[in-house]
Amino acid sequence: MNELKIFAPATIANVSCGFDVLGLCLDTVGDEMIVRKIPESGIRISKITGQHLPLEVEKNVAGVAALAMLERLNSEVGFEIEIHKKIKAGSGIGSSAASAAGTVWAMNELLERPFDATELVAFAMKGELLASGTAHADNVAPALLGGFTLIRSYEPLDIIKIPSPDQLYATVIHPQIEVKTSDARSVLKQSISLQKSIVQIGNLGGLISGLYTADYNLISRSLHDEIVEPLRSILIPGFDEVKQNAIQAGALGAGISGSGPSIFALSKGKATAEKVAKSMSETYQNLNIDFDVHVSNINTKGCRIL
Ligand code: HSE
Repeated sequence: MNELKIFAPATIANVSCGFDVLGLCLDTVGDEMIVRKIPESGIRISKITGQHLPLEVEKNVAGVAALAMLERLNSEVGFEIEIHKKIKAGSGIGSSAASAAGTVWAMNELLERPFDATELVAFAMKGELLASGTAHADNVAPALLGGFTLIRSYEPLDIIKIPSPDQLYATVIHPQIEVKTSDARSVLKQSISLQKSIVQIGNLGGLISGLYTADYNLISRSLHDEIVEPLRSILIPGFDEVKQNAIQAGALGAGISGSGPSIFALSKGKATAEKVAKSMSETYQNLNIDFDVHVSNINTKGCRIL
């Protein structure tokens, strides 16, 4: 096998109460990539469609993730990468993560899997570092492992895959503005009160427990962000209204997808997730804001061969 065409999924990071530690993988939105072995050693990015992104390997998130893997391999292999972007940059559903994760996943498959999932996450995090200035793993981990993933620890990297209840669906709406992750991180406070951390820890524990036991009520009660959402939501037009209307339409909860501006909602059942999509869309139509909207099951596998 010398070439793979793959699907590199979009992801929702944070999932309200899990800033930088929790993420989930989407199934109906993602990039397509072609990764092939080439006779020369090193990495080449030969084509990018759908977005204006640098072809220079050191300036491209896929390129730096690939280089990190090559460095560890210590051999003369070479790869060529084609990226066909469907996820908009700065949309908050893991655009850079999809490119970095897809690249290292495909290379690992072509090399007959010398690396485990945690090692692949570490390579892909180099892409996140380039994209946002922070090597957060809450998009690349779910893109690589599928489902919900918890980063129990960054040093050393310890990633836990959390089960996804069968009837859980995500709705994501992307108002057509761009919010850079680095900007969305710069509005955050560096320290938080004990009181706020108690609320956040309770909800994160509740959400994880709800996912394990498929307790949709508990998931709903736990989808609350005490720390980040109040600071970031001001960057997103119509956030409070979209969130409120999503919950009124039946969503279990809603919040900022990653660093925004996308807003996500989780629902029990596809029909409800679609009703929620309709309600969120109407809110933006009324506000005269252009948007994209997606409804997706939870992708439990992550990157896959097309
Ligand atoms: N956890 C990161 C953040 C995700 O919220 O800044 C960025 O997609």
